[in-house]
Amino acid sequence: MTKLNFWNETWSLDEAQCPCDLHFVDYLEEKGVKGAAIFHFGTGNHHIVGLKMAQNGSNNAVLGITASPQEYDDYVELLIKNPRLGHTYKAYFGDIYQIDARLLPEFDYVALFHVGEFRTPENDAYGALTDLDMTLVLADKVKPGGEVLFYKGSFAYDKAEAVAKELVKLRPFDDAGEFKSLKIYRKRAR
Ligand SMILES: C[S@@+](CC[C@H](N)C(=O)[O-])C[C@H]1O[C@@H](n2cnc3c(N)ncnc32)[C@H](O)[C@@H]1O
Repeated sequence: MTKLNFWNETWSLDEAQCPCDLHFVDYLEEKGVKGAAIFHFGTGNHHIVGLKMAQNGSNNAVLGITASPQEYDDYVELLIKNPRLGHTYKAYFGDIYQIDARLLPEFDYVALFHVGEFRTPENDAYGALTDLDMTLVLADKVKPGGEVLFYKGSFAYDKAEAVAKELVKLRPFDDAGEFKSLKIYRKRAR
């Protein structure tokens, strides 16, 4: 029987092993980003990106995705206990490789730190998107001047680099440098 390629695990915040979400929060804070729309691939059970944006007065709105039922349960619990969080932080359970452009708003920042880490033939079994297809769907929703970010510390960063190479070829994105462990591509202004 074909099953969703969900993530039957849960990930706690571990700055030494995976600082990407913390670096992303630092990046947005250092840049003084306010009122932005953010897409975040891989919430973790800590939900740090959505939580920090709700706490730091930035009024940045975050749409996060998790493929972990446990992490989604943690979001539900967090939201019940902190109803104000729900104004700016929405997380949903699903496979990012089924992302549907028709259901997406425009974003200022799209964080794709786990590109290539979880995409397997199990996703092919139900016709899921590839890493590149998924990235292009989201890249097309980035506003001019907005950014797509990858994580240089990912064990699949070679795959992310290959995707990024195609991204700058196929779409109006430029290399915008790095911040800590993050690699940034910016969409050209119209
Ligand atoms: C290793 S954890 C990292 C969590 C967090 N970004 C961090 O660095 O602390 C990987 C995350 O990717 C999510 N994930 C894995 N496969 C996914 C998929 N197909 N679609 C959406 N999210 C997925 C997991 O649910 C989890 O939140």
